[in-house]
Amino acid sequence: MIERRVSLSLPHRVFFTEGVFDAGQPLLRGLLCPLNEKQRSRRVLVVVEPAVAAGQELLLEKIQAWFAAQDGLLTLVSPPLVIEGGEPCKNDWRLVEKLWAAINDGGIDRHSYVIAIGGGALLDLVGFAAATAHRGIRLIRMPTTTLSQGDGGVGVKNGVNHFQKKNWVGTFAVPFAVINDFRFLESLPSADLRDGIIEAVKVSLIRDEAFFQELEAKAEALGRLEKPVLHWVIERSADLHTAHICTGGDPFEFGSARPLDFGHWIAHKLEQLSNFRIGHGRAVAIGMAADLVYASLAGMLEEGQRDRILSLLEQIGFRLWDDDLLRADASGKLEVLRGLEEFREHLGGDLCITLVTAPGQAVEVHEMDAALVEQSLAWLHARESAPALN
Ligand SMILES: NC(=O)c1ccc[n+]([C@@H]2O[C@H](COP(=O)([O-])OP(=O)(O)OC[C@H]3O[C@@H](n4cnc5c(N)ncnc54)[C@H](O)[C@@H]3O)[C@@H](O)[C@H]2O)c1
Ligand SMILES: [Zn+2]
Repeated sequence: MIERRVSLSLPHRVFFTEGVFDAGQPLLRGLLCPLNEKQRSRRVLVVVEPAVAAGQELLLEKIQAWFAAQDGLLTLVSPPLVIEGGEPCKNDWRLVEKLWAAINDGGIDRHSYVIAIGGGALLDLVGFAAATAHRGIRLIRMPTTTLSQGDGGVGVKNGVNHFQKKNWVGTFAVPFAVINDFRFLESLPSADLRDGIIEAVKVSLIRDEAFFQELEAKAEALGRLEKPVLHWVIERSADLHTAHICTGGDPFEFGSARPLDFGHWIAHKLEQLSNFRIGHGRAVAIGMAADLVYASLAGMLEEGQRDRILSLLEQIGFRLWDDDLLRADASGKLEVLRGLEEFREHLGGDLCITLVTAPGQAVEVHEMDAALVEQSLAWLHARESAPALN
């Protein structure tokens, strides 16, 4: 037998800026043409989603002008490729092939770059195509939603949906860099702007009580979606997420523990039950609320702390109930409960649910009592109907 170890240490970099393609902006050039590397022209393929191209004035022209001004050190292999974004793009395998074709036609190799500009869904799609072409091409992610700037976009996963299952095909691949350009957020509708804040609350609840207290102090400004506080929350959230990935001991998720999935087992199911009418952030707010109520009914979280957290979620502007939670199958069983089985399957057979026992403190449980989950949902429903009673 021969046994050795493969060790790899990769930088995971997230930059924060505004106007990355403004004339003279040096950030991207410094990143793509590092001084310690041989100065030869690098080839670059840029992929943008239409919502971003339409929402940012002259974005495609600006990108081309920016590359044209790089003294031949960077070559844009074609005008930016505009590819549909949002969840449907992860359901269309032809888009993967279209991206591979663009990578091939553009002569993009392992010393070239793919830049993906869009929401988390587009980043997952382009990330997958880039990670699999030539066994991995350098990818620069430019997330354009609050959710992806603070959460998914700064992670190391990619993937598309297959067999009608989310993220069934995909890889773990550390991006060459992530650039969070706050200007991209300016074209986001306010519900989508708010959505990203939920992942910050989530990460504060599982990891960082001081951050939770700061969120409480800034709740009103967050509710009003004030720009400085929104940028602050994205930066803090991205920092805590990358810290979790890089220092949490399991960046490629070999184990079953998924603290960052707090509140997500209900959320994923609810998104699906609502036919994706409910956005991810809004679904996570409801999923977290239900699991907080569950923890309090199970005697693991003080009622006062539960109410404190629920009220922060509401102050930020999240509603903690949706009638699709009431949907039942022919036998009368709540459909949302199937989310537990799907989550177990997603984890590879061993259920591991993160529950919060106080702001900043999380525990893992390996079973959930279905009757208590139903009771938690009923509690939330009653609260929604008569909030003053609780
Ligand atoms: N890879 C990971 O680690 C990871 C983690 C969490 C979530 N995700 C994935 O991320 C996806 C969700 O990402 P999301 O929340 O960013 O949503 P999204 O990508 O679906 O985007 C939401 C909507 O906003 C539009 N949009 C994006 N940027 C815009 C802008 N600047 N202006 C106007 N419209 C804009 C999109 O076209 C879409 O309609 C899911 O597919 C989820 O599975 C991945
Ligand atoms: Zn999430």
